[in-house]
Amino acid sequence: MEATEQLAAISKYTAQKLAGDVTGHGVDHINRVVTNAKMLLAEEPSADYLITLSSAYLHDVIDDKLVSDVSAAQQDVEQFLSSIEFAPDQVHTVMLIINNMSFSKSLTDDQQPLPLEGQIVQDADRLDAIGAIGITRAIYYGGHHNEKIYDPQIAPRTSMTKAEYRNLNNETIINHFYEKLLKLPDSMNTPVAKKIAKGRQKTMTTFLEDFKAEWNGMK
Ligand code: ADP
Ligand code: NI
Repeated sequence: MEATEQLAAISKYTAQKLAGDVTGHGVDHINRVVTNAKMLLAEEPSADYLITLSSAYLHDVIDDKLVSDVSAAQQDVEQFLSSIEFAPDQVHTVMLIINNMSFSKSLTDDQQPLPLEGQIVQDADRLDAIGAIGITRAIYYGGHHNEKIYDPQIAPRTSMTKAEYRNLNNETIINHFYEKLLKLPDSMNTPVAKKIAKGRQKTMTTFLEDFKAEWNGMK
């Protein structure tokens, strides 16, 4: 099978798995991550195109926020990749990437170093969590999960373990910026993503300043 045919099959697989998603992980998010990954690939010619884009398409289909049985979802992806003629080492690399690239995984000790392809997909995903799109996704996610918009009495927790991060029960949308989103620009792997993230950070800090000024009736 040709790489373009394999990627078309993977795109279709992901669209089926994420159809109807209302948590901000829909196909629109995947397509932006793929677009970001292509842009970063242009600057990183030594990265493998097929592995990078396959991982970009598949990175959310095994997320424990989206599937109840993570290991069944992992097995399903592995079988699917074999069925479209991915070699065992290619399946292995894609699984390594999608299992280890999340922010919550980065809060644990058992995190595996990512190959360049994984670093690109991680940057591509993180770029979609910041800036104007990132602001919109955080509000969308917070609304869906009954979070308060803001509560000046609830201080953001800027250092958390994975378990604490997963079990936040009085999260506010504004605190999510301090607990995760404002930290992402510093965690970018590739020089181009770092540069783009700087601009998107400004969008978020300006938004937060305006938000608080308006909250306090000052603007
Ligand atoms: P991704 O698919 O980018 O890895 P996540 O699964 O962590 O992201 O979350 C999906 C989107 O929802 C992201 O834009 C993220 O910032 C946002 N989000 C995640 N957790 C929260 C939260 N507790 N409050 C508000 N937004 C959140
Ligand atoms: Ni994602």
